[in-house]
Amino acid sequence: MCIQGKISYSSPSNIAIIKYWGKEPGDQIPMNPSLSMTLDKCRSFTTVEYKVKKGQDFSVEVFFEGKRSMEIEAKLQRWFTKISYFFSWLNYTQLRIESHNNFPHSAGIASSASGMSTLAMCLSAIDGHVRDDSTKNRQLQSNISRLGSGSASRSVMGPWVIWGKSEVYPEGSDEYAVVLPELHPDFNNLNDTIIVVNKTPKAISSRDGHTLMQGHPWRRGRIEQANKNFAELINALQTGDWKLFQKITENEALSLHALMLASEGGMMLWTGDTVEWMHYLRSERQRGGIPMAFTLDAGANIHLLYPDSAKEEVLRILQDSHVPHIEFIHDHTGNGPEKLHDEYEHC
Ligand code: PMV
Repeated sequence: MCIQGKISYSSPSNIAIIKYWGKEPGDQIPMNPSLSMTLDKCRSFTTVEYKVKKGQDFSVEVFFEGKRSMEIEAKLQRWFTKISYFFSWLNYTQLRIESHNNFPHSAGIASSASGMSTLAMCLSAIDGHVRDDSTKNRQLQSNISRLGSGSASRSVMGPWVIWGKSEVYPEGSDEYAVVLPELHPDFNNLNDTIIVVNKTPKAISSRDGHTLMQGHPWRRGRIEQANKNFAELINALQTGDWKLFQKITENEALSLHALMLASEGGMMLWTGDTVEWMHYLRSERQRGGIPMAFTLDAGANIHLLYPDSAKEEVLRILQDSHVPHIEFIHDHTGNGPEKLHDEYEHC
């Protein structure tokens, strides 16, 4: 058997409201359920050229933003070994991967989520061409994305996505993400403006951050808190309760960073501008009663979430601010990956 071709996908990043921070023993098993909003505009674009031929050895070359990256190749080798459990044809495949993002580095946008999910989508499509009995579906795509980066499991679908098992949402799984159904229309389209205050790459990776949760003194409390917030957030998203949404969103963001600060070594990712922005946004909200809520990933930059009805006022508040920032990136709710190109032939 011999099949060769070229496939391209784009896949978005996502912003977690209930944060995944810390793992259970096993292969990328989350400590608590997480819930995120899939973004639309902030995307990775990946093209995979491949030749699957029985008898040849596996090889891979990775080009990131135009340059070959041995670092990414080394990281992906481990992932390929894991996912060859699902795609055994990988053992005799040659791959050339090219990837880039349409958003800047270190802007507080999870590039591992968009990057790993777009590659997972490409491989899943190749699987569909190679195997007649392919089980190409969102669950498998989410599962193999997760094995590369936990948050990537949530990027292969939208608009609001759950990853991790819990008592309140038995349809959830630790192995793959699922879409939250019965969303209140107010949450169908939410704006996310990313306030970029710092572009210095973070000193500690999220992989190391997850590890710090292993012996964390607040671990048990965090699991309880995340599960409680998770249940309440589902309620807020389904009933359209903005006040509750806002309360949980900010509590989760501040708790994530409190956990980091209390970790061994004191992981401190905020800058002074991050703190000033949070004060400014809260005081503007108090003054005008505008529905807006901030959250943060593992970084210094702020995601500001607000409905369309508040757009004009929020943009004015952002423009009027004297708090320093590098740029604003405007995004909104999205639905997941998009296939851009697919050609193949038997050789
Ligand atoms: O998927 P990872 O290993 O890069 O971890 C993501 C961690 C957070 O972005 C802080 C939270 C989340 O759930 O996306």
